[in-house]
Amino acid sequence: MDPVKQSHVEEYGKAPEIIASAPGRVNLIGEHTDYNDGFLFPMAIDFTVRVAISRRKDSHLHFYSVDYKDRKRATLPTLRFRKEDRWANYPKGIIAQFFERGQSLGGMDITIHGDIPQGAGLSSSAALEVATALAIQDLYGIEIGREDLARLAQKAENEFVGVKTGIVDQFISRLAKEGHAMLLDARYLTYHYVPLALKGVKILITNSKVPHGLAESEYARRREDCRVCVEILSVKKPGTALRDYAASDVRDSMGLIPEATRKKCLHVVEENQRVIEAEEALRRKDLVTFGKLMNRSHESLRDLYEVSCPELDWLVKRAWETDGVYGSRLTGAGFGGCTVTLIEEEAIPSYQEHILQYERIFGFKPEVYVCRPSAGARIVENRVQSS
Ligand code: GLA
Repeated sequence: MDPVKQSHVEEYGKAPEIIASAPGRVNLIGEHTDYNDGFLFPMAIDFTVRVAISRRKDSHLHFYSVDYKDRKRATLPTLRFRKEDRWANYPKGIIAQFFERGQSLGGMDITIHGDIPQGAGLSSSAALEVATALAIQDLYGIEIGREDLARLAQKAENEFVGVKTGIVDQFISRLAKEGHAMLLDARYLTYHYVPLALKGVKILITNSKVPHGLAESEYARRREDCRVCVEILSVKKPGTALRDYAASDVRDSMGLIPEATRKKCLHVVEENQRVIEAEEALRRKDLVTFGKLMNRSHESLRDLYEVSCPELDWLVKRAWETDGVYGSRLTGAGFGGCTVTLIEEEAIPSYQEHILQYERIFGFKPEVYVCRPSAGARIVENRVQSS
C-alpha cells in the first residue's frame, strides 16, 4: 500500500478519499529573477511530497506528518498562522486561501509524507502547498486552473506563512512536464517547455547541508534593494520592475544608486539575459554554452548578488575542475542549500572524488542526487465518488 495511505489509515482509522503528489524543483538558471518580473528556467525533480485527505463531519483540521512524526490541530473558524505549528502552517495557509476565495470547506484529516530533502532549497514547502491545494481542489470539485492554483499557493506562502517569495517554486511544482525544463516569464506567467533529452548527461544536485538560516532576512533585503533600484531608474526611463531595464541602464546609473545596490541590480538584469541565451543554447543542444552560462550565473550570484557562501563556492569550484562537467552553480535562494551541475554521466564518480574533502573542511556531509526532469503535481488516488 502507498505509505501515505497506510499512515493515514493507521492515524485516523479510515482510508483517505484523495491523495495528491507534488514535486520539488531545481532552477537550472535564472536566480532571483522571479520577483523582478523576469525569466527563469526551472524543472521539477523526482522527489515529491504526498498529501492524503479524508473529510470530517465537524470543522476540525487534523494534520499528521509521517516524516516528523508530529501532529497538529486547528479548526476552520479559528484558522491562523501559529509559529509553533511549523510545517502545518503550509497546508493551513492553503485552506485559508480557499476560504478567502469564498470556497466552503469542512473539517479534514490530513496526512503528509515526502522524500524532498528538507531545508535544502529544493522547495519542499512549495510542494507541500501545491499537493495540499490540488488534493483539496479535487476533493471539493473546485474549478481552478493550474496557473491560478500556483498563484493561490504562492499567496498562502506570502500572506499566511509570511515569506515573500516569488512564484517560481509553486508554478513549476504544479505545471512541470516530464522530460522538460520550463522557460517561465514571471511577469505574464507565460511559459513553454524545452525538452531536456540529454543523452549521457545528467543533472546532478549536491546538497551542501549548510542550514540556510540567513536566507529569509537576506532575501527580503535583496527584494528591497531591487525595489529601490527600480524607483531610481524609473526617473530616467519608465518601468515598474528590473525586467524593464537593460544592463546598460544599470551601468549608466553609477553615482545615482548606492554601489552595493547597483551591483545587485546588475545581477538581475544580466541573469535575465543569461536565461534567454541558455534556453536558446539548449534548443541547439549546445551544452557547452549552456554550462558556461550556468557558471557565469554562479559568479554573478557570488560577486554581485552576494547570496553564496564558502561551502557552495567550494562545491561549485570542484565541479568546474572536474572533466566532464559542463557547468555548475548554486541553485535556489542561496546562503546554503544546493548546487546544480550539468555533467557527463561517466564523470559522476570523479566529481564525487573531487568533493571528498568537503566534510572534513566544512563539517557537513554532502549528499548528491541525480535528478530526472519530472512531471508536475498530480492526483495519485481519488476515491471521492465511491465514498
Ligand atoms: C526562493 C524563492 C523563489 C526564488 C528563488 C531565487 O526559492 O522561493 O521564488 O526567488 O528563491 O531564485
